[in-house]
Amino acid sequence: MILDAPRGTERARHILDVEGMTRDEILRLLDLADTMRSARAERTHRTLLEPETIGLAFYEGSTRTRVSFELAARALGATVVDLGVEGSSVGKGESLVDTLRTLERTGVTALVLRHASSGAPYLAARSTGMAIVNAGDGMHAHPTQALLDALTMREALGSLEGRLIAIVGDVAHSRVARSNLHSLRALGARIRVGGPPAWVAGFSGRDGVEVATSIEDALDGADAVMTLRVQLERAAGAGVPSLREYSRSWRLDERRMAHAAPGAPVLHPGPTNEGVELTSDLANGPRSLIARQVENGVPVRMAVLATVTGAA
Ligand code: CP
Repeated sequence: MILDAPRGTERARHILDVEGMTRDEILRLLDLADTMRSARAERTHRTLLEPETIGLAFYEGSTRTRVSFELAARALGATVVDLGVEGSSVGKGESLVDTLRTLERTGVTALVLRHASSGAPYLAARSTGMAIVNAGDGMHAHPTQALLDALTMREALGSLEGRLIAIVGDVAHSRVARSNLHSLRALGARIRVGGPPAWVAGFSGRDGVEVATSIEDALDGADAVMTLRVQLERAAGAGVPSLREYSRSWRLDERRMAHAAPGAPVLHPGPTNEGVELTSDLANGPRSLIARQVENGVPVRMAVLATVTGAA
């Protein structure tokens, strides 16, 4: 959701979730991302965020999200500061709120926050005057991933209205899946979640969401298929008997993709465990949009930063 909040005498906006965003708000961000893609290529908008200092505070590891936010901020002329959590005073026990208030007092105007605790970006938005962007919080939400996924699917399929999108894997524990459910439904898509019963529990009966417990049923007629990272650190014993069992029943490959609509693309938020949730051939083959998802991260995050700072 895009929230207005007091920020001194001005107004700061936050992007904490896609839940609650309207179709028009999402489409505006996707259209703005297309504009930002051209602006980056043509090196226009180089001073749009010159007055801003963007802070990056990643309390969990990240490659795609952190790097693309940094490149997005620099492409628009912002000053960027990366907290570098590991080498910071967080290790001396400084609280999240104290750390963020310190960043604010040094001049950070908008903060990109990733944290293992669901809800941490909401605490940041309540406790500081900075504009807050959620870069992934616990199992709760990953709004900019959902936006770049929607942009990537829109490029491949055109309008998502009435399209059937299959999301396969550990849906229950995935912030990416949770955010995609909201954004794709807001854009008019039908959703089918598929996975071992423990990983799709709780989705039955949700408006606009079908549940499948076999890979064939999950893929049947799907216009696009997104598979999720199996969280190796907790997969075994947390809903599936073993990784080998999971891969045998749920790994995407070309043969299984024959159940989907002809030419249906494959997406994955990354990082992938090739050979576990999908084959290397599929991840690197012509159906794969995984590289395009990464490319789309920069213009989407340019659009997000321009929006929360009020520059666009
Ligand atoms: N998809 C995603 O959030 O990747 P990173 O963890 O590398 O940022």
